[in-house]
Amino acid sequence: MSISDLLESTPAGDADKPQSLTIRRPDDWHVHVRDGAMMKAVLPFTAAQFARGIIMPNLTPPVTTATAASAYRDRIRAALPAGSDFEPLMTCYLTDSTSPDEIERGYREGIWLAAKLYPAGATTNAHHGVTNIPALAPVFERMERIGMAVLVHGESTDPAVDIFDREAVFMERSMLPLLNAHPGLKVVVEHATTAETLDLVRAHAGRAACTITAHHLVINRTSIFQGGLRPHLYCLPVAKRERHRLALRKAAASGEACFMLGTDTAPHPRAAKQAECCSAGIFSGATALQTYVQVFDEEGALDRFEAFASLNGARFHGLEPNAGTVTLVRKPSQAMAAVAVEGDEVVVFEGGKTLPWSIAN
Ligand code: DOR
Ligand code: ZN
Repeated sequence: MSISDLLESTPAGDADKPQSLTIRRPDDWHVHVRDGAMMKAVLPFTAAQFARGIIMPNLTPPVTTATAASAYRDRIRAALPAGSDFEPLMTCYLTDSTSPDEIERGYREGIWLAAKLYPAGATTNAHHGVTNIPALAPVFERMERIGMAVLVHGESTDPAVDIFDREAVFMERSMLPLLNAHPGLKVVVEHATTAETLDLVRAHAGRAACTITAHHLVINRTSIFQGGLRPHLYCLPVAKRERHRLALRKAAASGEACFMLGTDTAPHPRAAKQAECCSAGIFSGATALQTYVQVFDEEGALDRFEAFASLNGARFHGLEPNAGTVTLVRKPSQAMAAVAVEGDEVVVFEGGKTLPWSIAN
């Protein structure tokens, strides 16, 4: 028997479980595809897994105008592998000087779907972000009126706040006031990492939702320090305690309409991760779907995976679900360890491991 025969055999005890799962093609409601050579290297993975993706605008310089978003969308389409029908859904990077008219123009012209709110300095390329959220009220009022969603990186930037408390403090000090000040505003709390954030979203379900990453379903904060410091598990918001990871798994697996798939796949070259000051971001673009389905399997919730991956986000954003399906199979396969890019490489989340689920061709 060859090694590949061994890998393809069904593990004992799994024979009575579903061997495959066919769902409508999923979407990634939070993805960083970057630009240039990095985009060329990582985009094919997202395009192979997802039909659409909400593209993060935190480039250098950030994507703050409809013209820049349209040009970026053209570059993404040009970088897609031949034959791919992946659809990039663009976002506007909010700054202190974003104008309501520009927001509306890009939305009405079908250039962008949503706006991204980074508190200034909260994360990678967020230094042009918003310093005073309430002062952006005219923008939010316009978005309320036209039905455009704001996607929020929910972390406090107060340097006195402990890094593990930044999400909780932001929800209290900034998210709740934003929700209350703009009762008609559609809000996506991005990459939720705490049980309390999930409860806040549930309490505003209908016009609030959140994305949940694959990595936050798998790692907790101790994972980052397992046997030493693990730079490739460092992202923002940083992973939290085990009780939060368990709450995230239950929320995703619940199928509740306010929880949707968003990988936050965020590639950085190995040199930027294994550095004196490690960049925040986990590249899950090549393994996200396999990881999510494994979690749903472990939670006994395969029947709810389609809602999370393919239906909830589309409904929230007022889009049709995708036509066509993807089939996931209970067939172990080894994840690639890294993706080459410009003389360096990007380390893959769960890379090198044998994952129990694969995507059927
Ligand atoms: O870990 C992260 N990386 N979190 C973010 O919010 C941004 C992202 C990036 O762009 O690298
Ligand atoms: Zn992100």
